[in-house]
Amino acid sequence: MARPQGSELMEKLVALCKRRGFIFPASEIYGGINGFWDYGPLGVQLKNNLRDRWWRDLVECPPIGPDGTPLDVVGVDSSIIQNPKTWHASGHVGGFSDPMVDCRVSKRRYRADHILVYRPTEGADIHPSYAFLEGQTDGMAKKMKKALRGAALEERFETVALVDLPLDAYALIIGPDATEPGTLTEPREFNLMFKTFVGATSGEDNVAYLRPETAQGIFLNYKNVLDTSRVKMPFGIAQVGKSFRNEVTPRNFIFRSREFEQMEMEWFCAPDEAAQWYKFWTQHRLEWWKSLGVRPENLILREHDSDELAHYAKEGEGTYDIEYAWPFVQGFGELEGVAHRGNFDLKQHQEHSGTKMEFFDPNTRERFVPHVIEPAAGLTRGVLLLLLEAYDVDDNRPSPELMRFQPRLAPIKAGIFPLTRKDGLPEVARKLYMELRQDHVCQFDEKQSIGKRYARMDEAGTPWCITVDHDTLSDQGVTVRDRDTGSQQRVALDQVARFVEDGLKQGV
Ligand code: GAP
Repeated sequence: MARPQGSELMEKLVALCKRRGFIFPASEIYGGINGFWDYGPLGVQLKNNLRDRWWRDLVECPPIGPDGTPLDVVGVDSSIIQNPKTWHASGHVGGFSDPMVDCRVSKRRYRADHILVYRPTEGADIHPSYAFLEGQTDGMAKKMKKALRGAALEERFETVALVDLPLDAYALIIGPDATEPGTLTEPREFNLMFKTFVGATSGEDNVAYLRPETAQGIFLNYKNVLDTSRVKMPFGIAQVGKSFRNEVTPRNFIFRSREFEQMEMEWFCAPDEAAQWYKFWTQHRLEWWKSLGVRPENLILREHDSDELAHYAKEGEGTYDIEYAWPFVQGFGELEGVAHRGNFDLKQHQEHSGTKMEFFDPNTRERFVPHVIEPAAGLTRGVLLLLLEAYDVDDNRPSPELMRFQPRLAPIKAGIFPLTRKDGLPEVARKLYMELRQDHVCQFDEKQSIGKRYARMDEAGTPWCITVDHDTLSDQGVTVRDRDTGSQQRVALDQVARFVEDGLKQGV
């Protein structure tokens, strides 16, 4: 069987994630809760590995800048709940919303800007118009063809965005989950921030928000970092952590959820250097994703159209998205945004808090509020990318599904097996396991046949299976099986640690 594509790939992947303990629906025993997911033993390990790789490559060992010296980047870990004035200043209380429409019959709610409509072209005698959600094109076309009894679709219909249609057209539109026209409400703006209350009373005075992005916690600490660490302009502050958005239509597994994790960096620089840094970071971030083994043809850079720009994006400079070929979108969809935020955020916080955000450059003796370039990636969305890139099928194996993670990102690096549970083999294998686990996540497994143990490790994406057999007792060697090729080689027991170490460096 060939590797599945599109919705079939997603179905298989979601099933494997559940079966093997990568990702579970949150509060499953109570029927789940839409837009929330839990990470199981393999999933949390994979997520941590991606997070650690980002942190290592950006904060602990930052990239080399255009002048050949390492850049200055430091980390912070700020509170999820901040003073609510933060979100007034940042524009999120006023402007962080999506347009949504409700279906009066199906009771479903949709992002208005995600709905497309098949509309009769001028002169076509067919009514009404059919609405569908982005990414459902194939299914929708089939439904339409059936309704038209095979007549050529394209000649009589065109696709338009719902938000581009006048409100009086809504009476003729059949919603994505409806059978009769006229059930969609007109779009309303819906603020995406989760509200909560701080303290014992729950009045308007105690309202606080769960952060919808990690970025603001960085802006709030910009002065603290500048005053207490040895960073010099230009420099970056990075943060990884949870963000919360009450998404109108969470979907596509962990792609768009209501609780997720971000990996963001704010790069502070002189205004006249911002354009150059913007180019630098856009390119650098694209290359970074490729360095994780993502197939280059699955990644593109796309500039936002002017009507897509976030409220903080600097006019004329725009925002680039690094996009991935997700199986549920036509073409490509967002993985990471790289935005030129200008000095919007620092100026807003300066104004709302009264704290000066200026930087004094001792060389030029100039004062300025720094401009900011922001590479903002989704950690959990990145996990979905790694899962999709890794998923493969090989019918020549005991269990055909396998995950081809880059070894450094794999949740388990090596499986260690005694061939049988007697003749002293478990003792030797356990000794090797105790040695390897000092430096790597390994699993000792002596249950069932070797074939079944290989299959378990293939599905977990473990790059190497190491078997202690009867020959080990005489030749002091073990058999190492490679996940990707299935090939086996003999490695001396005292060289196994070095073998794994070398293997982990591949592709780095
Ligand atoms: N500070 C800028 C910012 O938050 P964004 O484009 O809204 O920008 C950055 O978010 C990244 O966070 C996105 O590229 C995506 O990877 C991830 N992300 C955003 N919303 C998400 C959601 N609801 N579920 C999962 N990941 C999300």
